[in-house]
Amino acid sequence: MSLTVVDIRDLAHHVGQEVTLRGWLYNKRGSKSLLFLILRDGSGLSQCVVNEQEVDAASWTAADDATQESALKLTGTVRQDERQIGGYELNVTDVCLIHKAEEYPITPKEHGVEYLMNHRHLWLRSRRQWAIMRIRNQVIMSIHGFFQERGFLQMDAPMITGTAVEGTSTLFELDYFGQSAYLTQSGQLHGEAMAMAFGKIYTFGPTFRAEKSKTRRHLTEFWMIEPEMAFYDLDMNMDLAEEMVIRVIGDALASSGDELDILERDLTPLERVQKPFPRITYDESVERLHSAETVHMFDERQSGLDEEDAALKAEWEENQSIYGQAKKGEKRRIDARAIQIKQRQTEIEEEQRNLPRWRESAQNFEWGSDFGGSDETVLTWHFDRPIIVHRYPHEIKAFYMKRDPEDDRLAMGMDVLAPEGYGEIIGGGERATDLAFLEKQVADHHLPAEAFRWYFDLRRYGSVTHSGFGLGLERMITWICGIHHLREAIPFARTLDRLYP
Ligand code: 4AD
Ligand code: MG
Repeated sequence: MSLTVVDIRDLAHHVGQEVTLRGWLYNKRGSKSLLFLILRDGSGLSQCVVNEQEVDAASWTAADDATQESALKLTGTVRQDERQIGGYELNVTDVCLIHKAEEYPITPKEHGVEYLMNHRHLWLRSRRQWAIMRIRNQVIMSIHGFFQERGFLQMDAPMITGTAVEGTSTLFELDYFGQSAYLTQSGQLHGEAMAMAFGKIYTFGPTFRAEKSKTRRHLTEFWMIEPEMAFYDLDMNMDLAEEMVIRVIGDALASSGDELDILERDLTPLERVQKPFPRITYDESVERLHSAETVHMFDERQSGLDEEDAALKAEWEENQSIYGQAKKGEKRRIDARAIQIKQRQTEIEEEQRNLPRWRESAQNFEWGSDFGGSDETVLTWHFDRPIIVHRYPHEIKAFYMKRDPEDDRLAMGMDVLAPEGYGEIIGGGERATDLAFLEKQVADHHLPAEAFRWYFDLRRYGSVTHSGFGLGLERMITWICGIHHLREAIPFARTLDRLYP
């Protein structure tokens, strides 16, 4: 018997040969003497056909016994078959049941998200999660490629720090041998020190926010990529952020087609991610929120949702009317589609419920406040691609930001907002370089000067113009995948109410 163990993704190189696959039973159907096992090995899915006439009795019993998620070793001949999942099929000659699984808690029927999140350790085995996690991997590789090709050094900031970066309200406090310490909210301050030593650097690590917000965009632990560059001003910073986003999206479209297809991602908005991203000031953004055009867009949005909802309802009714007479395969398709329809309807309903509030928020937006998620969404309705908002009132930005030399009310910050309601994916800006200014900022923000002593040194020894930004990895992935909630963009999400699994 052949001992060539291969991954499902490599089956194309073994057509006509006898190989062994190892994995877990994803699905099974069949008749009295013929079984179709869909095997999952992490690299892909493959249909494996077991014919009672062609295997020994032990193999047949093993195949017949195997339950969903049982571990299996299957040997057989590889056949090309366009119609099958992955394009290849295994004609099985030997079956070994490595472990017979107990009744599996996740079945093809619909489970609520809470249930699935409670079973995240198992949910990760599903096809949808397979697609999302592979895209996550692709995005990570692409970000490293982007920076490495430009001569950036990847460096690591400490995760345990004594200093608040983004304000004191969102810190996880630790007892550090009798001293107070915090889990870092951002690697930026250490990034600045590393940029003064190495020119262009980026950090890529976990960051922590003890925010009590329960929105779909917030995790308490998330991964952030933070480039920091000496001699970069705000415009150069925006150029870099734009190039990086274009690169990451371009790579995803080029390399993750199958995964995006599984997620049924509409590629059009991603294909529109091209230079130049519109750059608008905070002032212009506020004007946009108040504009008649925005009012009109709300009306359009409302009627668009009404129409979509009606179309979904009609499709569902049509499907139900043919269900009784439908064949088994067709019934499966209708059931699967019904789940999708219901999910989309729930989203539509939620948005319809929110629209009046969003409208009010946009119309009554006061200069000086920070944009809420809905304001960001509304702003991006005005454009066909991501936008960059810059020059914010300094009161709503961090202490370290440089002031606009043209207008002291403004800080040289910038945010990149993704379209389709995904909102802020990047936050950053040009840093203040003047020691006296920074010392005053720390005092005005009621931060302990003691903790920033080392940071002030950067303004004592060769202080230069510099900038940087932070990209939220899960925000980027959520947008690329076109999924609703950040919790699916990370293997094990940490949120306000979740510490397990
Ligand atoms: O805008 P933020 O807070 O900026 C900073 O931390 C800067 N120090 C970064 C820098 O200039 N080096 O966070 C940056 C990004 C946001 O745009 C968002 O994508 C993501 O981090 N982010 C979160 N992602 C998930 N959950 C949260 N609670 C997040 N908070 C911020
Ligand atoms: Mg921000």
